Amino acid sequence: MIEVDNLRKVYHGSGGYTVAIEHLDFDVRDGEVVGIVGSTGCGKSTFLRIVMGIETPTSGRVLIDGREPYRDFMHFRGRIAAVFQEDRLFPWRTALDNVRLGLEILGVPKSEQISRAKRWLDALGLGSFYNYYPHQLSGGMRQRVALARALVLEPEVILLDEAFGHLDEVTSSKLRADFLELVRKEGITTLFVTHNLREALESTDRIIVFGRPAKVLADIRVEGLQDRDVMRERIYRLIELNSPSQVEP
Ligand SMILES: Nc1ncnc2c1ncn2[C@@H]1O[C@H](COP(=O)(O)OP(=O)(O)O)[C@@H](O)[C@H]1O
Ligand SMILES: [Mg+2]
Repeated sequence: MIEVDNLRKVYHGSGGYTVAIEHLDFDVRDGEVVGIVGSTGCGKSTFLRIVMGIETPTSGRVLIDGREPYRDFMHFRGRIAAVFQEDRLFPWRTALDNVRLGLEILGVPKSEQISRAKRWLDALGLGSFYNYYPHQLSGGMRQRVALARALVLEPEVILLDEAFGHLDEVTSSKLRADFLELVRKEGITTLFVTHNLREALESTDRIIVFGRPAKVLADIRVEGLQDRDVMRERIYRLIELNSPSQVEP
């Protein structure tokens, strides 16, 4: 379980300060797939970096199964995985070698690194591309490699920061559906940040709407929602009222 408790983040710079997170308070159950939506600059990536343990809160805290990711960074190695808009692959490593890298760092035996990496590349439809280098793959395929690299860890939590954002709509929706089927099957708790409301409504169990700076404007159960177009319009208006208009309807 992820507990977000009274979380606040302020960045101080030479010219003053920026409130990135005003106040966040919510819990995420194990295995939930939660969409986080809000306008550009509302603090979504900052929030994910705090969950990853690479940034500290100004006040309040995030707890994952009772532990703070920043303080217990070593405990969470391999337990939290993240995928970003850019694939962040190493160009000099093949698809297989990119996917097994995290396991190599964790000290998993090489034969197991290879068999697990192959299994996840297969699951993402890249069974014939183990030995391809990133530059030999399309953007969608490279993002599949990045997703396999996260799944191979068999993490408890996966964080997606606009992970499908730069792909064309057809590629993106297919990849998103494939990936979410895998995380649901594995029961991995997933925080899916996107500025695309349609994407969030199509793929998640629950949507948390952030204002700018980040605070919870709404917490919406998607399962069983009757009219998603009406909900999309409502969320759009809510974000627009609480931040400059920068979201895709
Ligand atoms: N390292 C940083 N130093 C100073 N300001 C930052 C830093 N990271 C983000 N910000 C500011 O915090 C706010 C939230 O940014 P971010 O979390 O990237 O938003 P989002 O991911 O929702 O677009 C923005 O105003 C941004 O300029
Ligand atoms: Mg961001």
